[in-house]
Amino acid sequence: MNAITDELAFAVARAPIAAAIAAAQFTGRGDERAADQAAVDAMRAMLNALPIKGRVVIGEGERDNAPMLFVGEEVGKGQGPAFDIALDPLEGTTLTAKAKANALSVIAIAPKGGLLHAPDTYMDKIAIGAGFDDGIVDLDKPIEQNVRALARAKGVKVEEVGVCVLDRPRHASLIEGLRAVGARVHLIGDGDIAGVINCTKPETGIDMYVGSGGAPEGVLAAAALKCVGGQFQGRLVIRNDQERARAEAAGIEDLKRRYTLDELVSTDAIFIATGVTPGSLLDGVRFISGLVHTDTLVLNSATRTMAELRLQQPLG
Ligand code: FBP
Repeated sequence: MNAITDELAFAVARAPIAAAIAAAQFTGRGDERAADQAAVDAMRAMLNALPIKGRVVIGEGERDNAPMLFVGEEVGKGQGPAFDIALDPLEGTTLTAKAKANALSVIAIAPKGGLLHAPDTYMDKIAIGAGFDDGIVDLDKPIEQNVRALARAKGVKVEEVGVCVLDRPRHASLIEGLRAVGARVHLIGDGDIAGVINCTKPETGIDMYVGSGGAPEGVLAAAALKCVGGQFQGRLVIRNDQERARAEAAGIEDLKRRYTLDELVSTDAIFIATGVTPGSLLDGVRFISGLVHTDTLVLNSATRTMAELRLQQPLG
């Protein structure tokens, strides 16, 4: 029997919903740590109420630095099948602190061994939506070539291809290359999980995501694409001995390996995200007349379920 059921998905959804509500109380307060801590506490409490045997494989970092939801922490009531859990209780701490769009609370869950134990390093990423031949874009090919290949496959001019990139100085030459070939560059301040998922939503105008961002966020984004379709490739970026040690501690042997989506997420998986601030993917948490409104995406690759859960609950 497949353990990745919709019943499990909707039960787990309570964790990012609670985390989003907790974090949203810090929207615009300029305190990233407090927002993050509130999200972590709320997510952990909900996870520990679930009848599962969960192990955090992507979390808030090492046990010594993270008081809760650290990598290796056991969560749930300890019954039933064993699950790997990847989480980012607050994806977009700065977005929340500054009341900017697109902050999310995110979790993915898969049978034990189903998620790459990505270390807390950067990852070079490329992603596109569903419906294209395998490998039409390639992390190792020049960006101009990838954009032209995608335009050809879509049957549109290069000028109509939208590419999402994190707005960072390290991406200056990438952005220059994209503009030189004629692509539209959608720059985002933070939040590359949403950036990747937006490749699957034509209304966003984003066809491709490229650039380096967090490796944990890479696995979470890959879990989303596993459910909705699309392509994703990623490679860890190891800049120093400390990061090398982190990758080795996570069990990574080949530090230069290019991972495909199915290597990052090798089994069926559930992906859930709740909006914290309003964004392109989901609405944010709203507190209205003693009620709290939330908007949550629930995806399950095993059942092909894609649900959007708009809840209204009494606050507190
Ligand atoms: P936080 O939740 O820690 O604010 O991270 C948001 C984020 O933008 C991710 O979406 C992205 O993968 C990563 O930070 C990029 O890191 P950096 O800000 O160092 O470029």
